[in-house]
Amino acid sequence: MPATVVVGTQWGDEGKGKFTDLVAKEMQLVVRYQGGHNAGHTIVVDGESFALQLVPSGVLYDHITPVIANGVVVDPTVLLAEMDMLTAKGVDCSRIKVSGNAHLILPYHQEIDRLTERRLGNAKLGTTKRGIGPAYSDKASRVGLRVQDLLDPKIFRAKLDVVLKEKNQVLAKVFNQLPLDADEIAHHYLEECRPRLEPHIADTVNLVHEALEAGQHVLLEGAQATFLDLDHGTYPFVTSSNPVAGGACTGAGIGPRYIDRVMGIAKAYVTRVGTGPFPTELAISGEAVGGKPRDGVDDEELRLGDHFVDVGHEYGTNSGRRRRPGWFDAVMLRHAVRLNSLSELAITKLDVLDKLEEVRVCVAYDVRGERMEHLPYHQSDLHAARPVYETLPGWRTDLTQATETHHLPREAEDYLAFLEEQVGVPIRLVGTGPGRTQFVHRRD
Ligand code: GDP
Ligand code: IMO
Ligand code: MG
Repeated sequence: MPATVVVGTQWGDEGKGKFTDLVAKEMQLVVRYQGGHNAGHTIVVDGESFALQLVPSGVLYDHITPVIANGVVVDPTVLLAEMDMLTAKGVDCSRIKVSGNAHLILPYHQEIDRLTERRLGNAKLGTTKRGIGPAYSDKASRVGLRVQDLLDPKIFRAKLDVVLKEKNQVLAKVFNQLPLDADEIAHHYLEECRPRLEPHIADTVNLVHEALEAGQHVLLEGAQATFLDLDHGTYPFVTSSNPVAGGACTGAGIGPRYIDRVMGIAKAYVTRVGTGPFPTELAISGEAVGGKPRDGVDDEELRLGDHFVDVGHEYGTNSGRRRRPGWFDAVMLRHAVRLNSLSELAITKLDVLDKLEEVRVCVAYDVRGERMEHLPYHQSDLHAARPVYETLPGWRTDLTQATETHHLPREAEDYLAFLEEQVGVPIRLVGTGPGRTQFVHRRD
């Protein structure tokens, strides 16, 4: 049975959690293939909000096996706390499987992430400070510790002693910090975390293949998004893994021929947290968060920027950080279609545009007087890119109750048709509110 990938097409927080949850209903396995607890996925079920970081969105259905695959970096403390949170809300977490090949996030990863950001000052990336980059660096440098090392305390300790020696030198000599204690780390990971994690540790590659061979439906859940991809995103303002659909193959251990459906998730506008280029960014009032300064910006732009943040509640699911807002960018989306071989799109948060008199879509960039309809590969061109907009009429209608295509006003349909024409991929699902049932299924 073929597999489906759900992937973010912008800079994250598109509403992947909500639509992964929706698509997961038809699946037997939901597999997270990259990233770590830098992700924050919100799913609202009957008014109750679930904020997930590491656990795949499918956990909310009893019939699904949620799998944390080899491509993920796992902080066991966070994973156990998330399982406790879910269990307290009545969710059965015994089904969760964690790959023995997934890499562990250790305390020095978080320390080095935090200290590096501080050292970079104004040049910082705005990471989530969860140790993601340092953990993936150690994986690539072949000094990482893996989940399976928890099962063999001697090996865990031997590897930790070697790597900690080097990390403590870095902490002391580069960052002027006190060393971390190997006994303390080993005690926490081996004595406190291991007994609880052990029943979940599995050969997840085998699990995924057995499911596929048995004709079960497998959903590969991406965290972060296309433009945060280490290879294809706005480097260096990216995360340290490969969220693009191709990353699902390495991150879960399947070949590309198994994937026959790739659903891209895009917000009806764009947001970004952390620093980095953002051609359609709108200024917001108050302090600028890695975004545009307030000075010299006209009131209309501020009103729109504030509208997206306030009406869209654009604050980090776990971090609480305010997200930078901007208009929908079809240039980026066209690139995301190519990078992921998207077969369909889900547009989220259409309801956030409900009250606007007109809506804008960036259809091209003006780069120093030259019109570009594809994403410039050179970072200086992207920084210089000015959006070329098409303006469409707004619908001025409350969409939060819309559940059928015919509930969408003509202007909203025209807007969606315009996006389809711009990016060349059908829009199958449209989000009309945060709730599990607030969506329109456009066509089969
Ligand atoms: P993710 O990281 O891509 O899963 O997205 P987040 O959960 O970080 O952010 C998306 C936010 O938008 C969450 O608070 C969701 O509850 C909310 N959301 C998702 N879809 C919709 C929608 O169609 N309309 C509205 N108003 N909110 C939505
Ligand atoms: P979800 O899955 C939005 C951003 C950070 C920073 C950059 C690198 O909820 O969409 P990292 O801690 O990964 O090294 O930070 O990536 N970032 C996200 N932005 N949504 C996310 O996840 C993100 N995960 C990381 O803000 O700019
Ligand atoms: Mg998020």
